[in-house]
Amino acid sequence: MTARDMVQTLLAGRSGAPARDHAEATAPANIALVKYWGKRDAELNLPVTDSLSVALTPLGTQTRLAPRRGGDEVTLNGAAVPPDDPFAVRLARFLDLFRPAPDVGFAVATVNTVPTAAGVASSASGFAALTRALDALFDWRLPPAALSALARLGSGSACRSLWDGFVEWRAGERADGRDSHGVPLSETWPGLCVGLRIVDAGPKSAPSRAAMNDTTASSPLYAAWPDTVRRDLAAARAAIARRDFAALGATAEGNALAMHATALAARPAVCYWQPETLRTLRRVWALRAAGTPVYATLDAGPNVKLLFEAPARSAVRVAFPDLQVIGPFDRAP
Ligand code: PMV
Repeated sequence: MTARDMVQTLLAGRSGAPARDHAEATAPANIALVKYWGKRDAELNLPVTDSLSVALTPLGTQTRLAPRRGGDEVTLNGAAVPPDDPFAVRLARFLDLFRPAPDVGFAVATVNTVPTAAGVASSASGFAALTRALDALFDWRLPPAALSALARLGSGSACRSLWDGFVEWRAGERADGRDSHGVPLSETWPGLCVGLRIVDAGPKSAPSRAAMNDTTASSPLYAAWPDTVRRDLAAARAAIARRDFAALGATAEGNALAMHATALAARPAVCYWQPETLRTLRRVWALRAAGTPVYATLDAGPNVKLLFEAPARSAVRVAFPDLQVIGPFDRAP
């Protein structure tokens, strides 16, 4: 099945013509506590395993979408993006799946509140917001699980960015991918904090798609990954259910390091770390050894996300004065 076939099946009976002149939507970024790493179907972005994330609300993406004659017109944080830029090419490929006719273009204005392509999941919030904007523009009124499956076609992790809080991406079993989408968990965790340590806000060294494919194809450690995820998911779910922070932190950190280990063992090696990445990790381990419950996770990039609870906030801030701290379950006053 192709991505186009999947979209047509999901949108069967729904309008192919825009219902309004523009639409706007937002979506939160997310950070995986148990990672998605490896695809069983590259075109449909179907994963080998389930994964689990927490949304980084209020950080994410705001998107304004309008149909236009001629080609697409893309802006990112207010600046025009040339059509041959990889960001615009990726958007155009995704929008191709939804054009009512090949000559229908879109004006897409994207504002990211997380650094683009820095391994802080801006593609996840970006494709989730764009999918919501398409739904509003065409007035499809699709249920969230269907929007999640569509967002997945842009970027796998985007399927978890349709909800706030904890979200599991169920890998699913169907070849057409309709059962591969996010499912929100009902548990909340007031006081849970995620600290972003931006080591490098520039583009990452290897896009996650290529890195994932190289790792699954050549890393001798990849064979151990699916079982690692199964165990870590069970541990993370249990930790969330009983609000056991040490168990959740240790599971998330171990899972992230295992993911990076599979990548490092790929031939040739995929290494996202920079010297400052390792310095940050060592500082986290030293803080923990000295009694502050803080753990670390990293996606496909050099930046480190710290996990801690509100009582540890001041100690973590002293060690990392430049940290951007998010409370995923804090309510706006
Ligand atoms: O959604 P993608 O294709 O950018 O892949 C994301 C992969 C990781 O961020 C490393 C892990 C995850 O589950 O988000």
